[in-house]
Amino acid sequence: MPVRKRLLDFLAVVTPGLEEVAKEELTALGVEVSEEHRGGLGFRAEMLDAMRVNLHARCVGRLWLRMGRFRAGAVPELYNRTAKLPWARRLAPESVVVLRAHAQRSRLIHTGRIMDAVRDAINTLVPIKVVAEADAPPEAQRILIRLVDNQCEISLDTSGALLHRRGYRQQTGRAPLRETTAAALLRWAQWDGTTPLVDPMCGSGTFVLEGALMAAKKAPGAERRFAFEFWRKYDAYNWRRLGTEAKASEDFGAVPLLMGSDRNAEAIKAARGNATRAGLTQHINFQNVDVQSVRIPISPAGLLVCNPPYGTRIGSRESLDPVYRQLGARIKALTGWRAMVLSADSTLRKTLVSVVKRRPLKEVEFDHGGLKVTTTLF
Ligand SMILES: C[S@@+](CC[C@H](N)C(=O)[O-])C[C@H]1O[C@@H](n2cnc3c(N)ncnc32)[C@H](O)[C@@H]1O
Repeated sequence: MPVRKRLLDFLAVVTPGLEEVAKEELTALGVEVSEEHRGGLGFRAEMLDAMRVNLHARCVGRLWLRMGRFRAGAVPELYNRTAKLPWARRLAPESVVVLRAHAQRSRLIHTGRIMDAVRDAINTLVPIKVVAEADAPPEAQRILIRLVDNQCEISLDTSGALLHRRGYRQQTGRAPLRETTAAALLRWAQWDGTTPLVDPMCGSGTFVLEGALMAAKKAPGAERRFAFEFWRKYDAYNWRRLGTEAKASEDFGAVPLLMGSDRNAEAIKAARGNATRAGLTQHINFQNVDVQSVRIPISPAGLLVCNPPYGTRIGSRESLDPVYRQLGARIKALTGWRAMVLSADSTLRKTLVSVVKRRPLKEVEFDHGGLKVTTTLF
């Protein structure tokens, strides 16, 4: 007799603007996305699929398990419906919990009262200890309550620390990209991990480090723990199996030429420290050098990626004009290569395109630290 699958409702948080790439990745990981919002992708799947997504997804920032959706126009309704959800199946007694609430266009709007009702309701099923995010220990469980138009959705986090925290990057420079965003952009550029990857303004090395992990087929979550591992019950047998399979498919011998350079010595020091922690020192060549002087072996052709300073402060556009021109000249000279450049200023972007003298293949815009950033692929 076929075993009936127990499907649960999940929401993957992704970089706003990069939903399509994240969706492709989730599909490749065996889940079928049935709902798309800006910054979020919903799907129904088994808990085993959620474990696989946590371990392998490079573009997902957090995976919520939606515990329930119901109408809640008043505190007693919220309390009673919350107390009917299967918290005791997931949360271990005495779990340390961080509660978060958002309310919009609803009769219940006071988030403090919403969180109190949810805490009290859960406490009737399983004793929990609620703490503030700042006091959350690594094993903390997170619960998100969203009330919109009196409709409540309560979700339990399966991930723990945000998934861009792969465990290796402890040092960052200024304006670092999230690993999840860097990975999504490398996927968007269809870099397949077999050709050289060069970042001449690498900062703390996010692009090349992510590229190395992708090329080596190293699971991004292999070195960290997840919230579900602290649940009352979880499928530890299959979790170990997923981990063993992930280790077995690693292939560091397959990593192509990876180069990161930056004119800032501190940034290169941080990038080297991160590479050491990720066990990637011998796979990435870091240099402390200006974009103008860095030597890039022209063959075989690969992908140049670059996240230059954006010039969003007053007066900095003028000072950055020469930097974008130098970068454009380097890209122009790399015959046969593709190049992916991030920018948040349309004038600097136009300058770059005019120097590269190639029609961009495609562009995508995403949210990054309150800015709209455009990525151009040449
Ligand atoms: C936005 S940050 C890059 C952040 C990086 N993607 C990360 O995730 O850490 C821009 C970097 O460009 C570097 N930079 C600016 N002008 C440069 C130049 N002319 N040559 C090389 N690097 C430069 C800065 O030192 C800085 O580290």
